[in-house]
Amino acid sequence: MLLSKIDYIRLINLKYSCVFTRHRNYTQSICTISDIMTTDKKSDIEIRKESHIKVCLEEDVESEVSSGLDDVTLVHHAIPDMDRDDIDLSCKFLGKDMNAPLIVEAITGGAKIAKKINQNLARACEEVGIAFGCGSVRAALVDEKLWDTYKVRDVAPTIPILSNIGLVQLIDEYDIRPIKDSCKDIGADGIAIHLNAVQEAVQPEGNINWKGSFERLKYFCQNLGIPVVVKETGAGISRETAIMAERAGAAMIDIGGLGGTSFSMVEHYRDKSGQGALFRNWGLPTACSLVECRQAVNTDIIASGGIRSGIDVIKAIALGANHAGMALPVLKAATNSHNDVVSVLTGIIDEMRSCMFLCGAGSISEISKKDIVVLGKTRYWLMARGIRLDNLSNRESIDALREKIRF
Ligand SMILES: Cc1cc2nc3c(=O)[nH]c(=O)nc-3n(C[C@H](O)[C@H](O)[C@H](O)COP(=O)(O)O)c2cc1C
Repeated sequence: MLLSKIDYIRLINLKYSCVFTRHRNYTQSICTISDIMTTDKKSDIEIRKESHIKVCLEEDVESEVSSGLDDVTLVHHAIPDMDRDDIDLSCKFLGKDMNAPLIVEAITGGAKIAKKINQNLARACEEVGIAFGCGSVRAALVDEKLWDTYKVRDVAPTIPILSNIGLVQLIDEYDIRPIKDSCKDIGADGIAIHLNAVQEAVQPEGNINWKGSFERLKYFCQNLGIPVVVKETGAGISRETAIMAERAGAAMIDIGGLGGTSFSMVEHYRDKSGQGALFRNWGLPTACSLVECRQAVNTDIIASGGIRSGIDVIKAIALGANHAGMALPVLKAATNSHNDVVSVLTGIIDEMRSCMFLCGAGSISEISKKDIVVLGKTRYWLMARGIRLDNLSNRESIDALREKIRF
């Protein structure tokens, strides 16, 4: 039996005398009588974390606009003259050796189900040899018994791990010390400071006072003592924002572009009275954001937002990304087992290898020199922003090619 919001709040208040704050503490379909009777006292933040996962598993939360990567074509090489199995995908992430330029993006933490998801994801990343990002640690900063849901070093001792916190929380909620301590506690190599202005703006009670956010970003980048990744969460990073992030001292930019999970839609399913559905397609598509940022800054770039196959990863690398990241495609597997996550990830890596083979690229550094043709809306976007497309589709003159190709 489903409970109404009022019933739910009454029941919780009666049983536990909870005080609810300004954040939403309820989702329509997650709470049944039996859930509540068997549930320990949960903070509103835990309930919110659970509802994000449930909504992402059950609803159509992706933007209707594509990531733009379907406008990008890698030039086929019909005589690859190499063994597909010899292709080298190795690279470095924050100075650590990795088997492929891939990261499992921040998803969760702070709820019982989150512990299982993080353990399965991190263990799979360790087995495959790629980086892992945990979800926002805010839940544990509010309630320290939740730290356990983020700790994965027991199953992932060697890979790069990123902690995660929202920029808006750093404006006036937290100072350096608790954030620094939390990174140490979970054994993080760096921290992603996420930008979620869309998610905050569309919620009736979202946090919409971002005054002073740039100064705080700079302060944290310069004083945390570990690398900071400035990360969007589905609306992309423009070249203007990328320059601000670089100036602030970001070590890396994760563009989190439009074309994949829309947090605006996630909030819509949690509360239809907000503006979530309206802003479903807001932002810079991943391909556009990536090329803009690559031209504007020198930091490493993670391409994410709608990365759905190994071909997408290789397209992103060819467009200038150093790594690519995925969240939604691994979520379902992570609720089952680490083996299921390993099979999703090894499938993607296998597709990356086939794609590189078909481009005649033997390594990551070679793929970033290959020609790529950009058409459709992405081409129009880039031209409108004054970006020269020859640098992508015509990287070497015919004479230079004739000189180089000496079979
Ligand atoms: C259930 C869920 C929870 C997420 N929570 C966070 C978070 O806590 N911090 C963050 O930076 N991004 C978070 N994200 C955003 C992802 O890290 C990623 O930027 C976004 O989903 C786009 O990637 P995708 O299209 O592959 O899902 C979350 C995504 C999902 C699906």
